[in-house]
Amino acid sequence: MSESVPQRIARLRGEIERHNYQYHTLDDPLITDAEFDAMFRELQALEIQYPSLTTPDSPTQRVGAAPRLSFTKVVHRSPMLSLNNAFNEEELRAFDVRTRETLGVAEVEYSVEPKFDGLAVTLTYRDGVFVQGATRGDGEVGEDVTQNLRTVRNIPLRLDSGRLAKPIPFIEIRGEVLMFKVDFIALNRQQADKGDKLFANPRNAAAGSLRQLNSQITSSRHLSFLAYGAGGVEGFILPDTHAEQLECLQKLSIPVPQERRVVSGPDGLLAYYREIGELRNKLPYEIDGVVYKVNNISQQTRLGYVSRAPRFALAHKFPAEEALTIVLDIEVQVGRTGALTPVARLAPVFVGGVTVTNATLHNEEEMRRKDIRIGDTVSVRRAGDVIPEVARVLLERRPVDTYEFKMPQVCPVCGAHVTKQPDEAIWRCSGGLFCPAQRKQAVLHFASRRALDIEGLGEKLVDQLVAQQWVHTPADLYKLNLRALAQLERMGEKSAQNLLDAIENSKQTTLARFIYALGIRNVGEATAKELARHFATLDNFISADETRLQLVPDIGPVVAQSIATFFSEPHNIEVIAQLRATGVRWPEQAEMAVQLLPLNANIFVLTGTLASMSRDEAKSRLETLGARVTGSVSQKTDYVVAGAEAGTKLSKARELNIAVLDEQQFLQLLNKNKMPAASN
Ligand code: IVH
Repeated sequence: MSESVPQRIARLRGEIERHNYQYHTLDDPLITDAEFDAMFRELQALEIQYPSLTTPDSPTQRVGAAPRLSFTKVVHRSPMLSLNNAFNEEELRAFDVRTRETLGVAEVEYSVEPKFDGLAVTLTYRDGVFVQGATRGDGEVGEDVTQNLRTVRNIPLRLDSGRLAKPIPFIEIRGEVLMFKVDFIALNRQQADKGDKLFANPRNAAAGSLRQLNSQITSSRHLSFLAYGAGGVEGFILPDTHAEQLECLQKLSIPVPQERRVVSGPDGLLAYYREIGELRNKLPYEIDGVVYKVNNISQQTRLGYVSRAPRFALAHKFPAEEALTIVLDIEVQVGRTGALTPVARLAPVFVGGVTVTNATLHNEEEMRRKDIRIGDTVSVRRAGDVIPEVARVLLERRPVDTYEFKMPQVCPVCGAHVTKQPDEAIWRCSGGLFCPAQRKQAVLHFASRRALDIEGLGEKLVDQLVAQQWVHTPADLYKLNLRALAQLERMGEKSAQNLLDAIENSKQTTLARFIYALGIRNVGEATAKELARHFATLDNFISADETRLQLVPDIGPVVAQSIATFFSEPHNIEVIAQLRATGVRWPEQAEMAVQLLPLNANIFVLTGTLASMSRDEAKSRLETLGARVTGSVSQKTDYVVAGAEAGTKLSKARELNIAVLDEQQFLQLLNKNKMPAASN
């Protein structure tokens, strides 16, 4: 009996995906490349003939689609967290002790995996079909790279639910996109042949390939995916250990690392660390350590989270790689807060996968302590993404005529005198924002991704804007015009316009980003978020004195003083006024401090689908009322809002005896606590 066209298409897709999996995930092809190509071309021909039968989960979509203009942002349903690190055995043992004590058990079982050195992504499958993929971004908001991820051959476009008791209506899978070492070498060879820029390491190559607006380019690069866990699931109950969850993902045809194990106690962890350390160079992909996770999920829940990292997991990093080279010169750089940093210029050396030509010497004291001099042979260390540093000097190789490097008495950039607080190791330029180096760094920080996120405003460009005297403060960015910009080096009219668009787009921001962007000393991203949450409006924040500032969680006298000093400088207040006048804005909760908000400090978890609003809307309505919305249910949760088809979170809430609101009760709660309209 002959097949109908839709049947034939469905069968071809199934076969192609099966062979894709055999080839890319199992590394065990069952047919020849020619046979595979023949099926693929037949499918392509049928889809061209019957365009209405083409679907996003068809393997033909793996070749990429038309270029896009930009990536849309995706708010993660639950934040993509980071991990706490251990660098030695002592820290690992301390982690195990803490874990045992918190759980009150004699021994803990851990699920252990390599720590992939790639790019974190999250994959969403609805009814088994891959519908969305996003980068980690800042952990809360990432970029929609669905089209690009479709081209990654070992990501299933459709899950194989045949081996499960029932299909999964919704699941988010988290893992890393990597470039295998062989693919990286081949890519760089190609780049060199074309005279194009080489990638520094497989991680950068993976990131550069995934964040392509043209997914056909991504498709031409050989990327791979490896999952390290489930990000959320609905309508299905996952097994109750991490290891079994990974097994379950594997059954769905999701690639998971072969090198995973289940071990017990700190000795088990250590043995695994050593095993993988020995395997490291033989693995097809780069890793920078191993990750230990408490295996039992209810124990994980009991341990919970602190700040941005789970208490139930730990990354144990491999020691940084080191190599020998010569210090050619020592220069002094001026940072955003005027700090003078000595930097060693080095004879180029290949270490940890990249060629290193500079290493930070941190500060004068550190340079003295290690006694680093021009002409010295030094061992240079590089770990992960951090700036390379000099580990030690080989004194036996020191030439006879070296001398101690003296820090300059005036700023090497603006000539202002330099000062040092008695209890500090750092010399600072006293030129403030009159110093072009500080100005430049302040502008770069303001525009950086986690601040106002002005894409395309890089170091070279800011150099020119400051040198031309067009930009003295971040507020001046909003006064730039097309004619002037287009005259700059390496700037056409088109890129000038793109930059102006990016500057314009940056005006709509959040209070937390704005506070972070100001570059107040000691106010990092997490502190800025805490301040925004606490004060709710910029004016409340500016007018708070040091005593009130210290009421904010995690803010002590040092940070409070930095903030007070920043606002006591009239110039800073003036720049803020200018920024607001040019239209930089954010949604501010009504002129009321968060402590007074009706749901202040209540922790909510949303699950299931609400008929009356999207999850994002529900989250933002709750946050407007002062509540915190988190991704997983724990003892700290106050309420779980359960929409239709709520899954494991609902059962967990029942287990822990947490108040559950259905949609109607939730709407009543919102109505009861209606807020005045938001204003800036
Ligand atoms: S678990 C809740 N497992 O490391 C914990 N992360 O430093 C979520 N990473 O952003 C992460 N390999 O992208 C986990 N086997 C592994 C990993 C891994 C690499 C990355 C991950 C995360 C970063 C944190």
